[in-house]
Amino acid sequence: MSDGARPRAAVVGAVNTDLVVRCATLPRPGETVLGSDLERLAGGKGANQAAALARLGVDTSLVACVGADEWGDAALAALASHGVDTSGVRRGTRATGTALITVDAAGENVIVVSRGANAELDLARAAVEAFDVVLAQLEVAPEVVRALAQRTNSLVLNVAPACAVDPATLRRCAVVIANELEAERLDLRALAHCVVTHGSRGATHYAWGDVVATATPPAVDVVDTVGAGDVFCAAYASRYLTRDEPAAALRFAVTAGALATRAIGAQGALPTYEEVRQWLAPAS
Ligand code: RIB
Repeated sequence: MSDGARPRAAVVGAVNTDLVVRCATLPRPGETVLGSDLERLAGGKGANQAAALARLGVDTSLVACVGADEWGDAALAALASHGVDTSGVRRGTRATGTALITVDAAGENVIVVSRGANAELDLARAAVEAFDVVLAQLEVAPEVVRALAQRTNSLVLNVAPACAVDPATLRRCAVVIANELEAERLDLRALAHCVVTHGSRGATHYAWGDVVATATPPAVDVVDTVGAGDVFCAAYASRYLTRDEPAAALRFAVTAGALATRAIGAQGALPTYEEVRQWLAPAS
């Protein structure tokens, strides 16, 4: 644990501008559907996870790269409004990352990401060893993730979006977090701790391939599931810091993830620690 009373988290990952259109049903390949007015919102898995950690009360720094453009300015302003330290975010030569997102009436989504400046991220000026947990995803260059796994023993890696990660990097992670599709690429028996999310059905914690805990989320009125997985990862990482038992960490994370679906946008309904606790408290 770092010096001082408060543990510190670093998030290494992407910052995007989310361009969102809502429609009744998601188009099939080759189909055109009509949608809502376009919304431009703060997003990117790295930014969402950093904002969610900060909202949960964790001292959080983001290591990222945005473009020297207006969308980069807006993304940094949104992060600062959530209390994230953005001094580790540098400006690249490419445009700020962009995500094209379509959300249907049930809150399901499809996303295409153009990485832009996120592809320029490196760890040259990032003292990741100084943090008590480092949370990362796969929207940045694979070399960044490989280097992180070498430099910290406290890497919580969200293997999203699904792409190949070398087994040695995965084995060096403190925890790997995957959704069901992403988990198909993993050998769970080779991982000390792997958490697999199942959307509205909850999540399972595996240790060396054996189930050690499961949790189901509370029922909420779902508006938009974009970013719910990011809030789950952030909430899980916050409980990694407090060394919660797997079952407690999982319950906290599925609850935080569910609460994040109650408004439009990946950063539109980030719960606080107290809100999650209230939902966890047994009804009297
Ligand atoms: O996980 C949700 C995020 O994925 C969106 O905010 C979008 O930017 C993509 O990175």
